[in-house]
Amino acid sequence: MNAHLSHDHIHPQTSREDNFKLEWLLQSIERNRFLPEPDPEKVFVGDGNYRAIGAEYLGHFVRIGGLKPTDRVLDIGCGIGRMAVPLTQYLDPDTASYEGIDPVKDGIEWCVQNITPIYRNFRFCQVDIAHELYNPQGAMAGDEVVLPFCHASFDFVSLVSVATHLPHREIVAYAHEVSRLLARGGRVFLTAFIVSPEDIERAEARPNFIPGEEQGSWIADPVAPLGAIGFDRGMIESALEGAGLKVDLVSLGHWRGTSSSHYQDVIVASKPGGPA
Ligand SMILES: C[S@@+](CC[C@H](N)C(=O)[O-])C[C@H]1O[C@@H](n2cnc3c(N)ncnc32)[C@H](O)[C@@H]1O
Repeated sequence: MNAHLSHDHIHPQTSREDNFKLEWLLQSIERNRFLPEPDPEKVFVGDGNYRAIGAEYLGHFVRIGGLKPTDRVLDIGCGIGRMAVPLTQYLDPDTASYEGIDPVKDGIEWCVQNITPIYRNFRFCQVDIAHELYNPQGAMAGDEVVLPFCHASFDFVSLVSVATHLPHREIVAYAHEVSRLLARGGRVFLTAFIVSPEDIERAEARPNFIPGEEQGSWIADPVAPLGAIGFDRGMIESALEGAGLKVDLVSLGHWRGTSSSHYQDVIVASKPGGPA
């Protein structure tokens, strides 16, 4: 692995002017009261300001992941549209597309009813993948996941706060599926907890990880190990590389108590063979 390891990162293709325009867009998304937003009690994807977190991640997709307005986007674990809503303001309605998949039916139904009717290039699909917390009765095992899309049909795949809830074997399965679905030169933007001994010794680190049962795993709560799970440095990167992807960068998050523009760690990997 030869990835750039950093505490902050701006994608090399983001010019000063682009960055200024993006900042303006992110602020306008946060203020725009006409954008769809679910009832707070329906939001099952975590605490915090739904709109502000979505806008924050749109900024990371562009600045760290190199997302372009014309990209064909796949959002794995799209929940209740927190990433999709800000993306409606960035992706080109004529040339770009967005597909969101999630095992939770209620989240997908909200997106289908509230996003797709206004933004026709945004589609959502429930995939009945089993997860002990999110979809205990799911029919498809997470380590045998196959998503209903053709080979090489996406330029950008996101998994935000998804690998932080999956056992390692399911991350390996997703690495292969993402590699199948990405076009050459396409990128995957994945958040994770990458844990090293210095991280867990820091008093400011949140969550407070303890060793999990699975080799190399770190969990916050033994009663619900998949509530928040991290892995030794290198494990997720190796899973991506084992699936034929190139790890381009690892940007460390501030969960460990160090400074960063994002909370979880971010890994960006690409499908080799695209234009130079
Ligand atoms: C913390 S939420 C994050 C949701 C969304 N990415 C966001 O940031 O708003 C985790 C999401 O992962 C979904 N999930 C759980 N297991 C999954 C799997 N095997 N494949 C895809 N999504 C999964 C959950 O249903 C949930 O919506």
